[in-house]
Amino acid sequence: MTDFPQSRWWSDRVRQVRATFPHQTSVPQPGLITLSSGTPDFPTPPHVVEAGRKALADGHTAYTPWAGIMPLREAIAEKMERVNGVKVNPGSEVIVTTGTQEALIAILLAFLNPGEEMLIAAPFYDEYRRDAWLAGADLVPVPTSAHNSYELDPATLEAHIGPKTKGIILVSPNNPTAAVFRPATVKAIAKIAQEHDLLVVSDELYEMFVYDDATVTSIASLPGMKERTITINGFSKGYSMTGWRVGYIVADAGLIQAILPIHHGLTICAPAVSQWAALAAITGPHDWFVPVLAEYDRRRRTWMAALDKMGLPYGRPRGAYYILIDITGAGLDSPTFSRTVRDEAGVVIGGGGGAVDPSTLYTVRGAFTSPLDKLEEGLARMARVVERLREKAPVVS
Ligand SMILES: Cc1ncc(COP(=O)(O)O)c(C=O)c1O
Repeated sequence: MTDFPQSRWWSDRVRQVRATFPHQTSVPQPGLITLSSGTPDFPTPPHVVEAGRKALADGHTAYTPWAGIMPLREAIAEKMERVNGVKVNPGSEVIVTTGTQEALIAILLAFLNPGEEMLIAAPFYDEYRRDAWLAGADLVPVPTSAHNSYELDPATLEAHIGPKTKGIILVSPNNPTAAVFRPATVKAIAKIAQEHDLLVVSDELYEMFVYDDATVTSIASLPGMKERTITINGFSKGYSMTGWRVGYIVADAGLIQAILPIHHGLTICAPAVSQWAALAAITGPHDWFVPVLAEYDRRRRTWMAALDKMGLPYGRPRGAYYILIDITGAGLDSPTFSRTVRDEAGVVIGGGGGAVDPSTLYTVRGAFTSPLDKLEEGLARMARVVERLREKAPVVS
């Protein structure tokens, strides 16, 4: 990274931002095998690309309504009722956003005053720290652990509620833990939210990725929860559309009224062409996803088998496409482990956020986003490094 002038009035600010966010975007480098990317390696389905092309040809290149094009809002409402069991009015209860990321920042800006808090199961998606920081809000991590696949314990959650707590951010299926909260857990969280008068933000971005017996319970579908739940979701992961930047917010009309002007202030509207492509994605065929999910599952099993062989514990992934690995046995913290594996084996693995969240200091995040041959090669190389580290520091967790 280029350095910055030490003596300008903004230098302190630059230093503060760099200290708050020490991680920089990692650019894929030739020759390295990346085993922890959050970007699907499958292409956007062709019928979706074609819809984007047609939208361009048809001249859909201007601003859209603040809340997004009506056919897409209608399709989102239809899907919310059919898949998630949540009935919403497309005219007043849906906003199309520039990705799920924008959805969360808009919500935090709309409902939290500086210094107020949201609870979130930890380890959590590192980017949400940046969103909270922008809003002046604090995320309060609620610990979870690998031994029960990072399930959130409602009693632990409740114990973290304080006078500044305004709500709970639920991410299920989860990044980076791959937890999918069980129906009884979600029900207990709903009860806690009602008893303590909390808002719930439910990030369901990975809802299409579930394995074994896991099912996604949309908390907004539970009795009494729609009025206090803001569901956020997007097209990035399930439809391999990370660069198209489309997500959405679904909530009661009263909540939407507070979020809509902020959404407009942030991005005016989601990209018009991308909204038409997203419409094709959500209303089009979904049979193409069956083999895609089977491939992610094959990679998941490959990961688990390799880690079992290396003797590194992990939370069994029930959803999303990640696996959170406990590297205590390798005798290094996660930044050092990541550096060592990259330098010695040409394998990129990281993303645990270890430098900033103590709960991830000895974890790294693997992902199922590399093709099987690359994954097997990367895991074999990583295994050799782990074996060497073990010989040097045979601390088996
Ligand atoms: C849990 C979670 N929420 C939100 C996002 C942001 O997604 P989008 O591309 O829809 O903005 C990500 C991206 O990795 C994520 O993992």
